[in-house]
Amino acid sequence: MSTPYRGGLAPVTDEITAFDLKVTGRIPAELNGRYLRNGPNPLSLDDPSASHLFLGEGMVHGVRLRDGRAEWYRNRWVRNADVARRLGEEPRPGRTHGGMDFAANTHVIGLAGRTFATVEAGSLPYELGYELDTIGPCDFDGGLPGGFAAHTHLDPATGELHAMAYFFGWDHHQHVVLDAKGAVTRTRDIPIADAPMMHDFALTERFVVLYDLPVTFSMAHAEKGAPLPYAWNEEHGSRLGLLSRRTGEVRWFEVNPCWVFHTLNAYDDGDQVVVDVVRYPKRFVDARLEGGGSPTLDRWRIDLSSGRVSETRLDDRAQEFPRMDERLTGRPYRYGYTVATSDLVEMVYPPDRAMEDLPDEAFDNTLIKHDLERGTQQGRRFGRDAYVGEPVFVESGEAEDAGYVMVFVNDPARGAADLVILSAQDFTGEPVATVHLPARVPLGFHGSWVSD
Ligand SMILES: [Fe+2]
Repeated sequence: MSTPYRGGLAPVTDEITAFDLKVTGRIPAELNGRYLRNGPNPLSLDDPSASHLFLGEGMVHGVRLRDGRAEWYRNRWVRNADVARRLGEEPRPGRTHGGMDFAANTHVIGLAGRTFATVEAGSLPYELGYELDTIGPCDFDGGLPGGFAAHTHLDPATGELHAMAYFFGWDHHQHVVLDAKGAVTRTRDIPIADAPMMHDFALTERFVVLYDLPVTFSMAHAEKGAPLPYAWNEEHGSRLGLLSRRTGEVRWFEVNPCWVFHTLNAYDDGDQVVVDVVRYPKRFVDARLEGGGSPTLDRWRIDLSSGRVSETRLDDRAQEFPRMDERLTGRPYRYGYTVATSDLVEMVYPPDRAMEDLPDEAFDNTLIKHDLERGTQQGRRFGRDAYVGEPVFVESGEAEDAGYVMVFVNDPARGAADLVILSAQDFTGEPVATVHLPARVPLGFHGSWVSD
């Protein structure tokens, strides 16, 4: 069986606990909390779950920082019932939705002093303890009608956490809002045909922005036993929905066919709504991740009066994993952070595509800081086999880029990962601190800085 879990994506086989990690540089004393990151890490490469990048069992890696020290590193599988059994443990109690019990592998977030590993497409999130042990599946005290979502967006003004849930058995997508205490305060079903995948969405002060794009659930692929039965659907249009946060009404706007996994940010601009995303020309041919073009940083401008949407390319380099200063989620903003790497490009392209086909210099394990006001970028390169992951911004001052960018970077010389802490204002300078971990951290998906 071919597996995408090679190179930087090769799974680790051990759960490690290490204390008092070696540090180069100085960890800022104000960083008290945990840097957490989730990703697929199949228990065995012989498992069906190892056939698709999206289906490997989740493993969360965490580094705890306190008073200028790196107190610990831990990596733990998310124990759904199957993982628990295979590790010789009792399954955790809790309900499932739609018969799905998945070891959530996509994101890990802090909410109301709790920690959640999240995933989309019908499964519940798994709650983790502070030290990443699995507590169990969580439906927020019964508040969640179905599954949850991998990506969420927190409104910095109201403290509300927004999510869009979807499930192949539904004829709608579901907007879910939680309060700062982690209670579901409202849900709204939005009818959408063909059960499209909706990996992310955007939030502005007035709207929730929905991506109804032509990657839809495919019964034909499900019957053929495709591990991920979603396919590009020529019959399904491409449109953006503006769900009014005030009235709950949705207005739809047509866009050119494309695919989007991730939002950088969005905001209201008078009679327009600006939505910045990493956009692909096409995705998921025959239920496989497929090229069809590079993922570029693009801007949609939705004009509420004309009903038209214009497109602008902000950066044509292949890049992914956009993050920004989340104090400005849904607000006008200036800076964004993405990653452009050969490893990540390989991750989103089919494994049989030769890396030599790809333009080289643009993808050399580079983090990009975007200045969207000036239209400029700064690139920070990490060298071959660095397996640079998602750049997480952590604020430490008033200015939008006053803070740090945290990222796991593989050190090929040591065969282990570092947690690199950059100054966002000195993006290409020496790292503020480099925490040396005792083991590899495979390339994965998303993470968070969870302040204590
Ligand atoms: Fe994602």
